Amino acid sequence: MTEIPEHLLKRSRDRRSAAGGGSDDAAGSVPAKASETAPAAAAARAAAPAPAPVAPAPKPDAPVVRAAKERRKVPFWAMVPLSLLPIWAWMYVRSVQDHPEEAAGPRAAGQVLYGKCAGCHGGDGGGGAGRQLSNAEVLKTFPAIEDQLRWMEFGTEKYKAAGIKVYGNPNREGGAHQTGSYGVMPGWAGELTPDQILAVTCYVRYDLGGADEASEEWAAEYEEWCSEEAPKYLALEEGKTFGDMEFANVGTEPREGRDSAYPAEG
Ligand code: HEC
Repeated sequence: MTEIPEHLLKRSRDRRSAAGGGSDDAAGSVPAKASETAPAAAAARAAAPAPAPVAPAPKPDAPVVRAAKERRKVPFWAMVPLSLLPIWAWMYVRSVQDHPEEAAGPRAAGQVLYGKCAGCHGGDGGGGAGRQLSNAEVLKTFPAIEDQLRWMEFGTEKYKAAGIKVYGNPNREGGAHQTGSYGVMPGWAGELTPDQILAVTCYVRYDLGGADEASEEWAAEYEEWCSEEAPKYLALEEGKTFGDMEFANVGTEPREGRDSAYPAEG
C-alpha cells in the first residue's frame, strides 16, 4: 500500500469543505473539517444579501379540492347497487336496441346475392344490360320456378349450345324470349351453389317480380321452394343438388321450356 502524502490529503479536504460537501471521511477527520468549515460558512452568511426566506405557508386548497374534501362520501351500503349500475346500463341498452328479426330463408339470402345481378338488371329489377325482371316480367317468362332455376344455372351460352331457341315459356304473354336476343346472360352454376341459385331466384320472383306468396297462384310454389322452411331450399342447403332425384323437374341439362307449367312429355 502506498502512503498518500499529508499535503495531498489536506488539499482534498479543503476542496471538499469549500464545495460544502458532507463528509464521507473516516470519523477521525470530522473535527478537523468542522473547524475548517465554520469560518467559511460565516463568510457565506455575511456575503448573502438577505436571509433565505422561511418555507412558504402551505397553499390553501383550491375550491374544487376543498369541496371534494368536504363532500359527504358515498355511504357504504350504496356501493353494491352502484357497482351494479354498468350491468344494468348494459341490459337497458340491449333491451332498447331494436334487434330486427334475424333475416332468414332464401329471400333474405337472395337479396344479398342479387348484388351480383343488379349491375345488369338494375337494383329494383327494372332492367338495363339485362332484361327487366320487375313488374311480373320474369314471371311471364318463367311461370314455373324450375325453368328459371335451370336458366340461372346455364345461361345464354349453354342454352345456345344445346340448340334451345326460346328459353322459358314459348307462349309467353308479350312474346317468347329468344335465346341471346337481348344479350348474354352468364350461367351461374360454377359461381353460385345450388341453394344460392334458388335463393336469388326466390328474391327475383317474390321481391322484384311481385309474385304474391299469399295468392292461390303462388302459394304452393312458395311453400315448396321459397319460404323459410321450404323443403327444397333446406335440402339444397344440406348439399343436395338439382340433379338429385327430388329435383328431377329442374334437371341438370338445359332443355326447351317444358316443365310443370306446360304439358310434360311422356
Ligand atoms: C352481365 C350482365 C348480367 C348479369 C350480371 C346478370 N344477368 Fe340476367 N340477363 C342478362 C341478359 C343479357 C339477359 C337476356 C339473355 C338473353 O337474351 O339470352 C338476362 C336474362 C335474365 C333472366 C331472364 C329474364 C327474362 O324474362 O327473359 C333472368 C331471370 C335473369 N337474367 C336473372 C339474373 C340474376 C338473378 C342474376 C344474378 C345472379 C343475373 N341475371 C345476372 C344479363 C345479366
